[in-house]
Amino acid sequence: MIRNPSLRRRLLLFVAVPLLAVLVCGGIINYVIGLHYANKVYDRWLLDSAEAIGDLVNSDAGRNELSDQARILLQFSVKERNKFAVRSMRYGVLAGNQDLPQPSPKSRNAGPVFTNFLDHGLPMRMASVFIANKADPGDVLVISTAETVNKRRALARELLISTVPIELLLIVVAMALVWLGINHGLRALDPLAHEIRMREAGDLSPLRTIDAPLEVQPLVATIDALLGRLDRMLRQQQRFIADAAHQLRTPLAGLRLQAERALADPRPETVREALVHVERLSAGTARAAGQLLAMARAQAPDESLGAAVPLDLAELVRNEVAARVPDAIAKGIDLGYHGPERGMKVIGDPVLLRELLGNLVDNATRYGSRGHRGDAVITVALQPTEESGCVLSVQDNGPGVAPELVPRLGERFFRAMGNGHEGTGLGLAIVREIAERHGAELFITNHIDPHGLHVEIRFPPIAA
Ligand SMILES: Nc1ncnc2c1ncn2[C@@H]1O[C@H](COP(=O)(O)OP(=O)(O)OP(=O)(O)O)[C@@H](O)[C@H]1O
Ligand SMILES: [Mg+2]
Repeated sequence: MIRNPSLRRRLLLFVAVPLLAVLVCGGIINYVIGLHYANKVYDRWLLDSAEAIGDLVNSDAGRNELSDQARILLQFSVKERNKFAVRSMRYGVLAGNQDLPQPSPKSRNAGPVFTNFLDHGLPMRMASVFIANKADPGDVLVISTAETVNKRRALARELLISTVPIELLLIVVAMALVWLGINHGLRALDPLAHEIRMREAGDLSPLRTIDAPLEVQPLVATIDALLGRLDRMLRQQQRFIADAAHQLRTPLAGLRLQAERALADPRPETVREALVHVERLSAGTARAAGQLLAMARAQAPDESLGAAVPLDLAELVRNEVAARVPDAIAKGIDLGYHGPERGMKVIGDPVLLRELLGNLVDNATRYGSRGHRGDAVITVALQPTEESGCVLSVQDNGPGVAPELVPRLGERFFRAMGNGHEGTGLGLAIVREIAERHGAELFITNHIDPHGLHVEIRFPPIAA
């Protein structure tokens, strides 16, 4: 099962983990500082003891031994775990533990010396002072006191432990504040969620963005863009369904009528006449369905125009014209191409571009050659523009379109009446749609000499 990532948990984790790390570091720093001060205090104490012993032995010492009185006092003044040694530079150890290490010899004016060493595996610290031997003026006495370092560590530990409850309390308070803060922050999303929840199913208008926090504005913008696309797609679909129903209803009714006619009067001539109508009506219906689908393809959302590729328009147009020449010859039409063999780069969908050209040549064939006395001529031309784009044009030498109707060409289902041909009135609308989709412009004019309709599509230069 996929678990959705929780924003709250994530934020909490991002804050809590570093917070805990900071507190752990704080604990370590506390321990180190505690140990530092414990060392200072115990070092001072060791030194005081050494100096006190120094005073004691020096007041009453012989040349190479302590007085009995000093010896007894010393036995009581030094505690169990502690060790001491009184050394004479001349006569060796006068009192105390023989096994204490000897500090490096120094002059009597030198300051105290601290040494760390191991005593039967136990870490010890030793303070040593150097004093002049009053009983023997040339001699120097070295008084050392030593103790295990355990109690220093114990003191630092005690200090650390005493701060733990406070630090734990701090963690709890900080986490509670963070939790409250995150909850409060996330509540800013509630109005947006509420608005989306309260929407009607068919409401695809953009979301109101005033209440949304700044940080979620990009998300709102993305949702709005998606809603916009959905809205356009839905409108197109509804239009397609309405168009299809409208376009197919009439020929289907005609087909039914013809079938009924043939059934009511089974004479061969009546049936044949009905079949002729059926053939014409079904061809028209098939054409209407084809044009409706072509329109839907041309209007499909941009993302589904996956086939937009850099292509050579000259090659595409030349091939398309060549493929239509036999049909034109059969109809007595002179169909020709004027333009370069290749080298007209555009970015586009070859299928849609063929559809565009097909519709223009089809119109020129159907309407341009109508009632022609001389040769019907259709010229497809392609030439570069000054702005390094290119212009595709289709020109016939037919009657053209009444000037007042020219601006309406390209409207869906618009047909200039009275030309005696059947069609759906979608061809030029498809051409306009495909041209716009390729960033091109469509111009339709009546040409004077030779007389005929001139359709031009201006493709922009390829963006660098
Ligand atoms: N070359 C032309 N010469 C004269 N009239 C034209 C020419 N091309 C188009 N027309 C007029 O413009 C109208 C619209 O053309 P369009 O291609 O959009 O629709 P259609 O040809 O009637 O139907 P469809 O192409 O969808 O089967 C046509 O009905 C016709 O009257
Ligand atoms: Mg047409």
